[in-house]
Amino acid sequence: MIEKTSRRSFLSATVASFAWLIVGDRASAQPANLAGTSCKVKGRERTVDGVTFICRNAKGKLVWRRKPGTAQEKITTVRALESADLELGKTKVVEVPAPNGGTTGLVLTRTEAGITALRVNCTHAGFPVARVGKVLECELHGSQFEPATGAVVTGPAVRPLTRYDATESNGGIYVTITSK
Ligand code: FES
Repeated sequence: MIEKTSRRSFLSATVASFAWLIVGDRASAQPANLAGTSCKVKGRERTVDGVTFICRNAKGKLVWRRKPGTAQEKITTVRALESADLELGKTKVVEVPAPNGGTTGLVLTRTEAGITALRVNCTHAGFPVARVGKVLECELHGSQFEPATGAVVTGPAVRPLTRYDATESNGGIYVTITSK
């Protein structure tokens, strides 16, 4: 009798342990929500990490959906290069993490006036530029840009290269990049 009882309690304890292992976490989890806010009121909006979501009815259920056309600009500051690696008058192209993920190319140039940080992509059709003599040149169609400002020297590009804020501190060059 004692043996039967202990076998039964062992079995029920084992089953309970397995059940806890399988559903324990989910049973105590909060319902799917967004930044701690359940989607209960149709039309309600929440902005998380620069993106606005709206509570919408989808197939009879209220769910968070990204609100079209509301992506906000993301800004990040990265240590792009060590100061010692960029001599006066020189240009370097570096890859850095982009605000929206992935990487982006920067053209860094040191002049008497300081550091200029430009987006590496030509404003004509996006091909990367490179330093050729005194200019930044896009070899796809021949546009040229001024390294210290990004201004167009020769077309077909008509817009200057995108310029970012660059500062120097603690032996490094920091660039503030925007997602737009
Ligand atoms: S993409 Fe640079 S000149 Fe056309």
